Amino acid sequence: MEPHLQHRASSFGGGVDAYAARPGYPDEAARWCLPPGARDVVDVAAGTGKLTAALLRAGVRVRAVEPDDAMRAALERDLPGVPAVRGTAEATGLPDACADAVTVGQAWHWFDAPRAAAELARVLRPGGRLAVLWNTEEPEAGTWVEAYRDLLHRDDPMAYDHVREPALGARFSPPEHATFPWVRSVTRAEVRLLAASRSYVLTMPPERREALLDEIDALWGTHPDLVGRDDAPLRYTTRCWRAVRLPAPPAAR
Ligand SMILES: C[S@@+](CC[C@H](N)C(=O)[O-])C[C@H]1O[C@@H](n2cnc3c(N)ncnc32)[C@H](O)[C@@H]1O
Repeated sequence: MEPHLQHRASSFGGGVDAYAARPGYPDEAARWCLPPGARDVVDVAAGTGKLTAALLRAGVRVRAVEPDDAMRAALERDLPGVPAVRGTAEATGLPDACADAVTVGQAWHWFDAPRAAAELARVLRPGGRLAVLWNTEEPEAGTWVEAYRDLLHRDDPMAYDHVREPALGARFSPPEHATFPWVRSVTRAEVRLLAASRSYVLTMPPERREALLDEIDALWGTHPDLVGRDDAPLRYTTRCWRAVRLPAPPAAR
């Protein structure tokens, strides 16, 4: 991975408090990701546990894997029953065939995909399922969400291009896709924190970051959707892909 992307991939712990404003995941999306009868699930790149919490609501046992100490500490504080290990998608440190499902929320784009696919196939039981999810805001034309996203990603080379079918390789079936639309209400303070929790903003020089966050804040004084309000609806789509782990090809003799 290029150094500036590596810097972004490891930036989230610096914004762990702002991360609380990030969206969770709908229960239907978490359930869609799990194979029938799933019991043991590994949530990789679990962060502060937003997806982990939805998986727990589905009634499965979850282990979290997260490399960032601050993110993992927040998860351990908020979800004290969940074992959380320091590890990456490329090297989880978990035993072979220990999971019925592995989930990845908002993070596949930070991985070395071929190495992660090989490692997650190793951790999954035969017939187990790998699921990759992203939440994206829905920026209908003319809405404050469009204005917010335009400001947020004005100079971001990555923006939302990474939200697409993950390349899982030969150890997985072709992924199935499903989308789950939902809405939540956000306050002015939460919108600022949402922006502040993005890797692109976390890795900006501090003066530029504050100037951008102030511009986003100012939408509450200028955008017709927001003027005079304390909160506003924010529409999301949770985009999910799920694939079945295939048997390893026979070793060449
Ligand atoms: C945007 S956060 C997503 C957190 C959580 N899954 C969620 O949906 O809220 C991305 C997370 O990926 C982690 N991460 C970055 N590179 C990783 C890697 N190679 N393996 C595992 N986790 C990684 C970061 O530390 C961060 O916690």
